[in-house]
Amino acid sequence: MTGALTIRRPDDWHLHLRDGAALATTVAHSAARFGRAIVMPNLRPPVTTTAQALDYKARILAAVPPGLAFEPLMTLYLTDNLPVAEIARAKAAGIVACKLYPAGATTNSDAGVTDLRKVEPVLEAMQRAGLRLLVHGEVTDPAVDIFDREAVFIERQMIPLRQRFPELKIVFEHITTREAAQYVAGSDAHTAATITAHHLLYNRNALFTGGLRPHYYCLPVLKREAHRQALVHAATGGSPKFFLGTDSAPHPAQLKEHASGCAGCYTAHAAIEMYAEAFDAAGALDKLEGFASLHGPAFYGLAPNAGSITLRREPWTAPGHFAFGDAELKPLRAGETLPWRIAE
Ligand code: NCD
Ligand code: ZN
Repeated sequence: MTGALTIRRPDDWHLHLRDGAALATTVAHSAARFGRAIVMPNLRPPVTTTAQALDYKARILAAVPPGLAFEPLMTLYLTDNLPVAEIARAKAAGIVACKLYPAGATTNSDAGVTDLRKVEPVLEAMQRAGLRLLVHGEVTDPAVDIFDREAVFIERQMIPLRQRFPELKIVFEHITTREAAQYVAGSDAHTAATITAHHLLYNRNALFTGGLRPHYYCLPVLKREAHRQALVHAATGGSPKFFLGTDSAPHPAQLKEHASGCAGCYTAHAAIEMYAEAFDAAGALDKLEGFASLHGPAFYGLAPNAGSITLRREPWTAPGHFAFGDAELKPLRAGETLPWRIAE
């Protein structure tokens, strides 16, 4: 049994840091593990301009603890009204991607795109500029069962989008189904996917074990076991099309433990540790470095990080809660024992 594993410092290609006082907690957790992160723009109001993204980046950098190096990679939130000219400004300012939320698909997505046809000129500009398109791949049609919304998205939106923009680099974010894993595996090199740690570790039973478990609720929602297995297969198979994106998405505990609980699991406090656990369970620790540290930079046209981290098989207990501004944040696995820990 491997007792320790040293890998290139990983990156998180899908992360929600939030803003204001929350950054003290969220940035410290991510920066202790990851060299870079793709920062999601779904603030209230959303980050829709280059100027807003650069201001947000400065607030994130100000929250990086002394002694740690962490580079936030910024994104813009696509709306029906994003001016085409904003793409050139974004590119010049080092913004790497735009995020497509179908309107109403998830937390803070009300400003999202109502019809893909409305953003075609922007997608064309992105394709030319080499900005990545990050897609929340779920239809919002209330007639579609919530467990089927990702698979239906492939047919209704992803395949037509791909045909219209064959050179656009697309990340199918936080995939949760066998259908999405197969779609990405079978598509050309311009399509990739991120996979979260919680979708590798849990199936939808986790939502209902011994009662309703709001801290396991995220979107896209956890799926049945066969889908979890397909995701593990994709993540551990060595394909450069799949890479790490935690989708760590903090909410105040009182809004998760609520009659209408918020979607989002907070995993940044133990993210690479949970991925190590999932890869270990699959007998694929040797594939963790590619997934966590190499495939993502390659897709984004960046060099891997220079440094490394070491993970040890050494049980530890995750804290029960963290400060989150004036509120309390309960992470996934709060108070539980985790088998892998990151060496200081
Ligand atoms: C995310 C959030 O809270 O911002 N929630 C989630 O369940 N993943 C939004 C998102 O990425 O869908
Ligand atoms: Zn997300």
